[in-house]
Amino acid sequence: MAGVVITDVGPRDGLQSQQAPVSTEGKRTLIEALWAAGLPAIEATSFVSPKAVPQMADADDLLPSLRVPPGRALSALVPNRRGLERALRAGCREVAVVLSATETMNQRNIRMGLAQALDECTATLLEARSHGLATRAYVAVAFACPFEGRTPAPRVRELAQAMADAGAGELVIADTIGAASPVDVREVLDELLPVVPVERVGLHFHDTRGLALANAWQALGMGVRRFDASIGGLGGCPFAPGAAGNLATEDLAVLCTQTGHATGLDPALLVRAVDVASALVGYPVGGRAMPWLRRSAQHASAEKQEEMK
Ligand code: COA
Ligand code: ZN
Repeated sequence: MAGVVITDVGPRDGLQSQQAPVSTEGKRTLIEALWAAGLPAIEATSFVSPKAVPQMADADDLLPSLRVPPGRALSALVPNRRGLERALRAGCREVAVVLSATETMNQRNIRMGLAQALDECTATLLEARSHGLATRAYVAVAFACPFEGRTPAPRVRELAQAMADAGAGELVIADTIGAASPVDVREVLDELLPVVPVERVGLHFHDTRGLALANAWQALGMGVRRFDASIGGLGGCPFAPGAAGNLATEDLAVLCTQTGHATGLDPALLVRAVDVASALVGYPVGGRAMPWLRRSAQHASAEKQEEMK
């Protein structure tokens, strides 16, 4: 069966809402641990206003200091062309733009209405492409908005299509507040897949209601092979009340492995990366599979030592 590509968004989505400051060095250590665990793609930071998101204020220093192993992708979120300029200066090769599917969420998140936000996103995508960058485009609050309620699926299709037309390489359909059920995932994908090739569709789930893994399973069944997740389930959005952490990378990895979808991730090194994330934020994080993953990693390492005797 075809492999699944997981983008770990922990360093951006997971750290942006932390209360206590996180050091640039600590972020680098986390990103190294994620590369070591085999993550093919990482969203490392965002070039947003430091007043809006103080935790991402070090993006200009962090990004140029990061190693990108061959064949892997390191991206950063940019809310506007100003962010893109900063990303280019930092040597970034892949950017993600973010468009919320509702008027109010765009206002709260990037202080633009929907129409203006769409213009800014498409202009940013076109400019990024003219510099030869790879691009991702988020459709945020694609299932429900904390201010406007349920998001109409046809609107998600229209916005995704507009960004695909502007050259977005990957369309990331985001359940920013973790409100979707598998039935909603089916409804949105039924709208989207006839107009956007499934290879270019990624899904981004938060686990507010404990349904993120069920939603990923629904999307997998409909042919989606790209997912965002965050190590240890770190996450939340400072502008979307009630948003919890992301789907945990290690939980998604277990689901994929057990259902025959290769991820290229090393379970023992994922456990290590979760420990690095916990140390970084100062409290224990980890998906639902963690106790089992930890036991099986210890078991595998004991067996290896036994063989070497
Ligand atoms: N990076 C750094 N600073 C930026 C910037 C960027 N990409 N874009 C704008 N700014 C600065 C401006 O220079 C200005 O600075 P000043 O106050 O020192 O003069 C200030 O931010 C306000 O600029 P303005 O154009 O009026 O923006 P705004 O106040 O309407 O804020 C955003 C717009 C997009 C910059 C801001 O809302 C933001 O960064 N949002 C990010 C939200 C986010 O990360 N959400 C989570 C991920 S989805
Ligand atoms: Zn998110």
